Amino acid sequence: MGKKDQTIKDFGEEWLRYPDIDGFFGSIELFSDMIYPFLNPGDLENCEVAEIGSGSGRIVNMLLEAGVKQVIAIEPSDAFQVLRRNIREPEKVTCLKITGDLLPAFGNLDYIFSIGVLHHIEDPVPVVDAAFKALRPGGHFLVWLYGREGNKLYLALISPLRAFTKRLPHFILASLVEIMYWPLVLYIKFCHRLRLPLQEYMLSVLEKMSPNKRRLIIYDQLKPAYAKYYTRQEAINLLENVGFINVRIHHRHGYSWTVIGAKPLP
Ligand SMILES: C[S@@+](CC[C@H](N)C(=O)[O-])C[C@H]1O[C@@H](n2cnc3c(N)ncnc32)[C@H](O)[C@@H]1O
Repeated sequence: MGKKDQTIKDFGEEWLRYPDIDGFFGSIELFSDMIYPFLNPGDLENCEVAEIGSGSGRIVNMLLEAGVKQVIAIEPSDAFQVLRRNIREPEKVTCLKITGDLLPAFGNLDYIFSIGVLHHIEDPVPVVDAAFKALRPGGHFLVWLYGREGNKLYLALISPLRAFTKRLPHFILASLVEIMYWPLVLYIKFCHRLRLPLQEYMLSVLEKMSPNKRRLIIYDQLKPAYAKYYTRQEAINLLENVGFINVRIHHRHGYSWTVIGAKPLP
């Protein structure tokens, strides 16, 4: 099985194991943080939008809570069934079980979001290109990506570990997650007192997550067959090379990138 299919299969298993999207993990507060400083949830009212890589549907529900008119939700994995179950206003959502590169070229969408997805795709250019074609002129594509800057120490530790954990069967990995959960809880506590790597992320995001969601996040770090950590320039190029203009970037909590670009007007 190629990396692309393996990644999709792995995510299917992950979301079937951790299907709930409650609490801070699925909150509009977290959504505001993800789209900051470029958008506010209020900017999306009555907009036609799409999300590429919807997983278990938390972003779709956040978009609905922000007041969008219609959402196209793209999810290629077996998480599709979880997505359909979790959606709050199904009459406003069209779910498509396809990969992002097959997003139809609607040409009328106001915004497209892809949160935590493109860094798991070896060749994301066809996906970015499909987003470009699906937007209306003047529409925006907002992506969130793992960052290389701010993650040096973390990557030095996690990369060798991942070479081993990404091959583990699901049930063994879930046990390993259980073991790693408690040192993480301790690390978050230390972050209150010491200036430690990833401190801002630990305190502004991870600490607010429920125990089950912290477990999901550990699993998410150890399992995917492919994960790229983008430099600032690589993240900008990803959108600019396909034709997006006015590309802006924000170093979210010092460890990841929120990037937004606009499709030019004719
Ligand atoms: C880390 S999850 C993010 C889910 C969701 N955006 C969120 O933030 O909760 C990545 C998702 O991207 C999906 N995915 C993987 N490869 C994809 C592809 N080629 N096209 C679209 N989605 C893909 C996976 O199945 C998975 O559900």
